[in-house]
Amino acid sequence: MSEQPILSVRNLNTEFVLQEGKVARALEDVSFDICPGQTIGLVGESGCGKTTTLMSVMRLLPSSGRITNGNIRFKNINLLGLSERQMRDYRWKEMSIIFQGAMNALNPVMTVGDQIREPILLHGLMDREKADARVDELLDLVGIPHARRDQYPHQYSGGMRQRAMIAMALACKPSLLFADEPTTALDVMVQAQVLELLKEIQERLKLAIVLVTHDLGVVAEVCDSVVVMYGGKVAEYGSSDDIYNRPQHPYTQRLLASFPDLNRPGESLASIPGTPPRLTQLPPGCRFAPRCHKVIEKCQQATPPILEVETEHYAACHLCQGTEARFQ
Ligand SMILES: Nc1ncnc2c1ncn2[C@@H]1O[C@H](COP(=O)(O)OP(=O)(O)O)[C@@H](O)[C@H]1O
Ligand SMILES: [Mg+2]
Repeated sequence: MSEQPILSVRNLNTEFVLQEGKVARALEDVSFDICPGQTIGLVGESGCGKTTTLMSVMRLLPSSGRITNGNIRFKNINLLGLSERQMRDYRWKEMSIIFQGAMNALNPVMTVGDQIREPILLHGLMDREKADARVDELLDLVGIPHARRDQYPHQYSGGMRQRAMIAMALACKPSLLFADEPTTALDVMVQAQVLELLKEIQERLKLAIVLVTHDLGVVAEVCDSVVVMYGGKVAEYGSSDDIYNRPQHPYTQRLLASFPDLNRPGESLASIPGTPPRLTQLPPGCRFAPRCHKVIEKCQQATPPILEVETEHYAACHLCQGTEARFQ
């Protein structure tokens, strides 16, 4: 990437210690960059480590989770070197997150306006009067009429609640936003509106967005680049053009084949047989090998290195040709 990234994640390893004492290796050597004003998609089936990646970067892992290796640089600061107290200067103010399923977790007995105002007051950014003006500004930004400010969450539709969540996440003017499956629970029309809103906001605020989704169709609409995750590892990483037009990893190819293509309606969808690996019982070699339609003997024995298959397009597959990727 020619521009200086706002966030640089390198060889991130995160594990969870389970009750039985077993260790789930949720992330292994996850690396990616995001530049200011860019949108990057994090995709993969459920359980592939998308949420864990975001929670690791925000340093909001539950107590059973820990980062065992890697590097996270935000605006050239090593986030893993910060104390929890120092980290609080970054969380919400510099980088913010819309949690998975959060629109259903709004407080039912508090008005939406008050809930949007809360983070502003909490972080002591401004007094009550100014915070009220900021709430109106945020409502305008996400397209909620001021008249609905004093309504309660149950008076909002799913799409409106998601807009409120976006407003809350943006309350302290972050420059990086993580959106974890922000459209998953919404119907298709509303999904499109929420994506359109994120795109608009990104352009207006020059925000960098990490959009997490299991839906490659969603990513195609808004993302500049895509990280495809499988079993806690990066399977493929490149620009949206690379991923959609020249997918190299069999997992990406299968994932693309399993989503409807708007240009080829009516074509039958091939879902991927099997399920992602259990992270406490990882297969030797490539984690996708047990489900891969192109599997060769080597795949079951050796972990494929991540190769640069074309400029800034990476894939971790024994069938790919390229030079071993060197992430600085
Ligand atoms: N709190 C947790 N405790 C134990 N294991 C967890 C926890 N959260 C996630 N994991 C493990 O990490 C894997 C990845 O989870 P997650 O990051 O939520 O995936 P995704 O967001 O892609 O669906 C899960 O399959 C699970 O094994
Ligand atoms: Mg998730």
